[in-house]
Amino acid sequence: MNETIQKNLGYKKYVIDSKLQYFKPHASKIEKTFAEEISSSLNRDSKFIAPKFFYDKKGSDLFEKICTLPEYYPTRTEIDILKNLHAELPSFIDKSFRLVELGSGASVKTRLILDIFTQMQQTTEYFPIDISEILTESSELLLQDYDNLRITGIIDTYEGGLEFLKNYDEKKNLILFLGSSFGNFSPSDGKVFLEKINSTMKSGDLFLIGLDLVKDSQILESAYNDTQGVTAEFNLNVLSRINDELDADFNLNNFSHYSIYNKDNQRIEMYLKSLVKQSVIISKSNLSLNLEKNELIHTEHSHKYTLEQIRTLLESTGFKLNHVWLDDNTHFSLTLVSKN
Ligand SMILES: C[S@@+](CC[C@H](N)C(=O)[O-])C[C@H]1O[C@@H](n2cnc3c(N)ncnc32)[C@H](O)[C@@H]1O
Repeated sequence: MNETIQKNLGYKKYVIDSKLQYFKPHASKIEKTFAEEISSSLNRDSKFIAPKFFYDKKGSDLFEKICTLPEYYPTRTEIDILKNLHAELPSFIDKSFRLVELGSGASVKTRLILDIFTQMQQTTEYFPIDISEILTESSELLLQDYDNLRITGIIDTYEGGLEFLKNYDEKKNLILFLGSSFGNFSPSDGKVFLEKINSTMKSGDLFLIGLDLVKDSQILESAYNDTQGVTAEFNLNVLSRINDELDADFNLNNFSHYSIYNKDNQRIEMYLKSLVKQSVIISKSNLSLNLEKNELIHTEHSHKYTLEQIRTLLESTGFKLNHVWLDDNTHFSLTLVSKN
């Protein structure tokens, strides 16, 4: 491994013990990016907050709660599909593979893949990549349950993590990207991102992507607007985070959660709606934000795909399809690809 490269990329290394280490970009870099990004994304006519900012500690915990909601079919459906990989995934990998995961979160689904790896290997290497500090907590929990696991966590954006991984060493990687997190990208950014993954991969590496499929609007809309209001709390929490970290004065009572399925664009659109005409100061972003009554701040897109679109997307970004796994209702897909 070339530690000089990782150091030059601006990472600090934290060694916890012989089984666990993290790499994290220097704090000043993260804080500056957050303040600057918020400043430019809210200082425009169509305002937005990038979904990666949902995930402070509270946001990550709320997402885990969303995963257990009766309306939120994606998690349990993807878990059901992952359970079936036990029989087939081993024929695509060998003992030399390392497991890498983009947006690993609580690493709950990962366990189903780790079960396969740790049975095949004497020592399994896992590289979770996540912007959220939840990564440290989930890594420690994994190590309690898997004796032969070694974890190198990268607490950074997907792009930062992929850059870190590039030229890391010659070991083969299986890269996981679950939870249909890819659906947050716009179609054009998504293509660029897949090309980036492709260019990070060596020949022999594999990429397993979980994508949500087009289905009945009712099922989709309930999943992003649950009756217990957890998704609303998750959405609104990003304003609390901006208050805490960027010294802002959002009054959460003046906003509501709003989400809708846009059939033409095949995506759930999630917004924060301003309930009154109001002004908000975001000190660290040097921004005085004026919002009209009913003005929307866009916070997330979650694109849904047809199987044909998935095939075309992956093939057009340099991948070869190895296998597609589906659930019985064809609600969700897991696609395994390699570099073409
Ligand atoms: C929708 S959750 C999915 C978590 C888990 N993979 C699953 O399938 O349940 C997205 C995860 O990706 C992380 N994340 C979101 N945007 C990110 C970004 N741009 N770079 C790195 N991590 C990101 C979040 O912190 C969160 O843990």
